[in-house]
Amino acid sequence: MSDEKAAFKQHYDAEASRYDAHRYACRCKRLISELQQAFVLDVLGDVGHVLDAGCGTGRFSIPLAERGVQVVAVDASPAMLAVARRKAGEAGVASHITFVQGDVEHLSFAPGSFDGAVSIAVLRHFPSPAVGIGELARVLRPGGAMALDYLNGHVFRFYEPLRGLFVRNPNVPNEHFFTNYYSTLPEVRGFLTANGVQLVRRHGLSKFPAHMLLCRLRLGTLAGPLQALERRVNLGAVVMVGGRKL
Ligand SMILES: C[S@@+](CC[C@H](N)C(=O)[O-])C[C@H]1O[C@@H](n2cnc3c(N)ncnc32)[C@H](O)[C@@H]1O
Repeated sequence: MSDEKAAFKQHYDAEASRYDAHRYACRCKRLISELQQAFVLDVLGDVGHVLDAGCGTGRFSIPLAERGVQVVAVDASPAMLAVARRKAGEAGVASHITFVQGDVEHLSFAPGSFDGAVSIAVLRHFPSPAVGIGELARVLRPGGAMALDYLNGHVFRFYEPLRGLFVRNPNVPNEHFFTNYYSTLPEVRGFLTANGVQLVRRHGLSKFPAHMLLCRLRLGTLAGPLQALERRVNLGAVVMVGGRKL
């Protein structure tokens, strides 16, 4: 395991118990999360067997399982997996989810094992999403659906200098520890195409710092209209992508 991967694992192991409370505490963040969940569920449909690569605390695995989907939830962090497992039990869907500790860039599944694959807020941790996209595509069957996201390099490079003004959470001392890697649509489309996946949907979402500013100013009610505007003009700092394997 590379030093950077080991550091991510250590970070998420330490953050796991307060991850949901920290990341989804405010109305704006919850709104974004709901939009992401709706996008993923829509792209994947009610397919039978889905891989959630970098499942975290189960933000996508659990709603998928609640629809009757059989989920294999992979994460590098045992502590994040433990939180997801507990939440799946509480939601009554533990029997629908198999939890596996593993590396998204080195999946241990045979080619074509899954009807669908989702990986949200994960590929940004890698210098290039190429290997991760290749692995997701490899384990997907022909006709299978894929949902992933990336940080929009066109937008994010302007946000990043401002981000520190808004992302200050004393509960997460090394929140700025991470390097965020950006991508662009041509890059992501190229990696998908190279792996036999056609890009079929795209949805931009605002994240940093606009919605954080709204949260700070207690103007969460404006988050919905802002998202609608950003979607229309495609300014999203985070871009959700839906693909289909040919
Ligand atoms: C920001 S969280 C996102 C979790 C979840 N997908 C969500 O959107 O709520 C990133 C997750 O990716 C996991 N992760 C990071 N690098 C990974 C890797 N190489 N293999 C597997 N999981 C990884 C982390 O442990 C963490 O749980």
